[in-house]
Amino acid sequence: MTTSTHFPADFTWAVATSAFQIEGAASADGKGPSIWDTFCAIPGTITDGSDGTVACDHYHRYREDVALIASLGVDAYRFSMAWSRVQPDGKGAWNEAGFAFYDRLLAELETYGIKAYLTLYHWDLPQGLQDDGGWLNRDTAYRFADYAREVARRFGNRVVSIATHNEPWCTANLGYGNGQFAPGVADAKQAVQVSHHLLLSHGLAMTAMREVGSAAQLGIVLNQWTADPATDSAADRAKADFEYARSVQWFMDPIFKGHYPELALRVHGENAPQVQDGDFAIICQPIDFLGCNYYFRSWCSAAVPPVPPPNALGVTDMGWEIYPQGLTELLLKLHAEYDLPPVYITENGMANADTLTDGRVADAARIAYVESHLAALKAAMDAGVDVRGYFLWSLLDNFEWNSGYAKRFGIVHVDYATQQRTLKESALWYRDFIGAQR
Ligand code: FCB
Repeated sequence: MTTSTHFPADFTWAVATSAFQIEGAASADGKGPSIWDTFCAIPGTITDGSDGTVACDHYHRYREDVALIASLGVDAYRFSMAWSRVQPDGKGAWNEAGFAFYDRLLAELETYGIKAYLTLYHWDLPQGLQDDGGWLNRDTAYRFADYAREVARRFGNRVVSIATHNEPWCTANLGYGNGQFAPGVADAKQAVQVSHHLLLSHGLAMTAMREVGSAAQLGIVLNQWTADPATDSAADRAKADFEYARSVQWFMDPIFKGHYPELALRVHGENAPQVQDGDFAIICQPIDFLGCNYYFRSWCSAAVPPVPPPNALGVTDMGWEIYPQGLTELLLKLHAEYDLPPVYITENGMANADTLTDGRVADAARIAYVESHLAALKAAMDAGVDVRGYFLWSLLDNFEWNSGYAKRFGIVHVDYATQQRTLKESALWYRDFIGAQR
């Protein structure tokens, strides 16, 4: 794609991060522990044995980081709040020193005229709530609504948007399904119940935030993909249908249609969640925007061993297939199936085995990745999907969950020994691309 590919003049260009992945300051100024602090301490959970104690030390370096954001010429910045920083136990007392950090961050963004897109929950549940049963405990949904209400009351007029959850699919399926993520439970039935409580908490939080009259746009961020059968066999097609139902439709249908997808319920069988009367009325309420995170498609093969994906454009350092047209296909499919509010691509980007040489990081592969995904996004917009913004994941190299610091997603390189930030070539390209769009 060339820079002659014109996005609308009011399209939002942005970068994204999340609290646990960059902030560090794990116990500073009264912050309570989160389930990720606990999880990282268990030997063998994180590939490189690392944790989030320091991360990018953004808590102390936010001024420098906001200046970097501004230097890219972006319109907006998506970040998340660490719940246990502002409410150490996840219930009870608020921590004013924690709120003060986000107040300082917002003030800094305001100085540069950068719009704030806040996410309430990017996976770091306060450990205090985990001790009470975490997301398996229905009560956690109500605690989440209390937290959402307080944040909206304090900051609802200073941020453009508030997303309740980031990728609840991951919280449920990686946190409780295969145990790859905190809290590290591997239990299919629990994972499905957790997904229901997450959806319930989303609905309760929406209501709570509306009640305090927040001016922010309110919505949710979902990780989404198309599911492609590896072959035309009935088994592969069935696998793909189930995969799409249990991942994309599982979260979209309750929010937009007020029920779970029939196919997924059937396949879940006795693992289907306990739903109380009135739950869907809470979950299914209008959202002002939908955040869509897209990284790859789901490739579905029922064969043993499975038929591998074609990987025509290669794979990222995560081993994820690079498949930009999946973004076009996904958005068109969602547009056909649901009455969508404005959509934002709230995450997209790639891990690359970057190296800093003579002050430069030549990450041509990342530029190609972003460029091709922007072209795919534009194709969906040209076909009628109302997409309002693109958030590149990520501003900084950061703590990539169970991969630790071994995977680099940033357009800014971080030397973790010195905390030195260096703009990669992709950052310079993104800056110039945005400039050309204007
Ligand atoms: C998404 C997460 C984000 C980051 C990227 C690579 O699933 O939301 O925190 O880990 O993947």
